[in-house]
Amino acid sequence: MAAKVEREEGNMGRTIFLLISVVLVAYYVYIPLPDAIEEPWKVLLENTFLKIGVDLAFLGERLGINHSMKTIQLLMRFQDVPPTSDENVTVMETTFNSVPVRIYIPKRKSTTLRRGLFYIHGGGWCLGSAASFMYDTLSRRTAHKLDAVVVSTDYGLVPKYHFPRQFEDVYRSLRWFLQEDILEKYGVDPRRVGVSGDSAGGNLAAAVTQQLLQDPDVKVKLKVQALIYPALQALDTNVPSQQEGSHFPILTRSLMVRFWSEYFTTDQGLEKAMLLNQHVPMEFSHLLQFVNWSSLLPERYKKGHFYKNPTPGNSELVQKYPGFIDVKACPLLANDNILHHLPLTYIITCQYDVLRDDGLMYVQRLQNAGVHVTHHHFEDGFHGAFSFPNLQIANRMQNQYFSWLIKNL
Ligand SMILES: *[C@@H]1O[C@H](CO)[C@@H](O)[C@H](O)[C@H]1NC(C)=O
Ligand SMILES: *[C@@H]1O[C@H](CO)[C@@H](O)[C@H](O)[C@H]1NC(C)=O
Ligand SMILES: *[C@@H]1O[C@H](CO)[C@@H](O)[C@H](O)[C@H]1NC(C)=O
Repeated sequence: MAAKVEREEGNMGRTIFLLISVVLVAYYVYIPLPDAIEEPWKVLLENTFLKIGVDLAFLGERLGINHSMKTIQLLMRFQDVPPTSDENVTVMETTFNSVPVRIYIPKRKSTTLRRGLFYIHGGGWCLGSAASFMYDTLSRRTAHKLDAVVVSTDYGLVPKYHFPRQFEDVYRSLRWFLQEDILEKYGVDPRRVGVSGDSAGGNLAAAVTQQLLQDPDVKVKLKVQALIYPALQALDTNVPSQQEGSHFPILTRSLMVRFWSEYFTTDQGLEKAMLLNQHVPMEFSHLLQFVNWSSLLPERYKKGHFYKNPTPGNSELVQKYPGFIDVKACPLLANDNILHHLPLTYIITCQYDVLRDDGLMYVQRLQNAGVHVTHHHFEDGFHGAFSFPNLQIANRMQNQYFSWLIKNL
């Protein structure tokens, strides 16, 4: 009798365990993807891995094991690949002004100087590396397709480093590359150099491109900037794409707010204020005009949203972390007479991306300032799609990007 009860309790325990597991797995797997997204199972799978990794990292942080971004860095390190040359491209590692870079040089013979593309990887200023499989693959492909010398730069990451370290590393590395003798050493035509990056890398690309305009020591001018779903402002965390984006794949609003606040500090006071959109104090409210989606977004993206000025916050945060109102972190804050001098610009935005409206607003502001902009909006796009391994949309996006660069760089 006792044995039977025990067995039944055992069965019951197993059943409950199974039920809980099924619910947990379903909770992770079930992310309602927008219908327009193709190959949904691949996206869902990747998203699930990412979500588990991020949630474990946050749990570890709460338990005091490690900063969450350190844990994710550790998990991502398995995706790094060595700098191996292949039949088409020679790959090497070196440092530019003490910043580590990976350089990709086409093997085919060239009688003329080549294009040069300086690439900045994404990862929320916390994650990613030029060595990661997806960025290494992208840089190889870019070098081969464009017959270009690609410099893929690294930079210090959160939490070891905060703003402005990331910006400064990238800027130092770019300035080194733009020296005429260095360009010559790698066979690059100084009239055909461009800067590009995705996500946080797009943020850094936009920021260093602006900074170069004000640097009299750099004689070589950029021919183009190509920004792939860039993050461009931290002042208004309630633009329509952020409001819609609590369930977008790969990058949710809360993760993006976390990346932004970590860029400036690990102090959670800033993150909390940013989540409430209450971090800009009254004395800086004049900056909000530069990120005003009510006046800068095309009608169709405003539909169903009502503009509300962000609630003013206390001045303490901005005094401690002035980075979040710095144009070097938020390129949308630049005024028109800076924007006016920017080079030919290419911008990719995605419909299902919390950063969509940052990109759309920059397109509008650049056009208002008289800059030539080519804008590709992907109706079925989502954040991260550009460098997503083995996805059709990644190929489509990259092919458009390559053909624009072939024509314009
Ligand atoms: C914390 O993260 C760092 C960097 O990723 C790693 O080297 C270290 O082993 C981690 N520590 C623990 C206790 O997990
Ligand atoms: C090298 O280039 C050729 C021609 O474009 C291509 O078919 C081949 O797959 C490339 N090799 C690698 C390793 O990418
Ligand atoms: C944003 O623009 C709208 C009109 O398009 C205006 O009513 C509002 O006051 C502006 N807000 C800020 C902070 O510039």
